[in-house]
Amino acid sequence: MKKTGKGTIQRIAAAFLAFAMAVSVSGMGEVEAAKPKKNIAIIYFSATGTTKGAAMKIQKSAKGKRLEIKAADPYTEEDLDYTDDDSRVSKERDSASSPAKSKERPEIANLKAIKKAVKKADVIYLGYPIWNGEAPHILYTFVE
Ligand SMILES: Cc1cc2nc3c(=O)[nH]c(=O)nc-3n(C[C@H](O)[C@H](O)[C@H](O)COP(=O)(O)O)c2cc1C
Repeated sequence: MKKTGKGTIQRIAAAFLAFAMAVSVSGMGEVEAAKPKKNIAIIYFSATGTTKGAAMKIQKSAKGKRLEIKAADPYTEEDLDYTDDDSRVSKERDSASSPAKSKERPEIANLKAIKKAVKKADVIYLGYPIWNGEAPHILYTFVE
């Protein structure tokens, strides 16, 4: 029987190596193709800037589009005084036993842009301050 030469073994080894590399490269492509980039929206309401700061940090790490829920009638410092029973937030609070049961739905100025971002998003981060132990009424405008 004819003996297999050293050169033949080297050629077989080289062919095997090339095949293994081709498989691993195509395998890498498949892994990348299986992980499409997610569309991330960071949507928040912030009356005094704290939630905005948190949203900016999330944007830095999650790399999404950041969008503020803007009240059509922005909340002033007086509006936010929950110690005054006649303030805007107190009237919202006292309009029902919970914001979900209330008819108070402050209008959102940039609703069109927010709807567009929500439609496109695969993942939504939603940020808001706690008002009287609940989400502010404007968050209910957004969700509804
Ligand atoms: C009307 C109103 C009600 C609030 N109620 C609460 C509350 O129930 N519990 C709480 O921990 N903080 C409460 N806070 C404090 C806010 O949640 C806190 O200051 C928050 O960081 C404000 O976020 P922003 O700067 O993004 O608006 C209240 C603030 C306001 C203006």
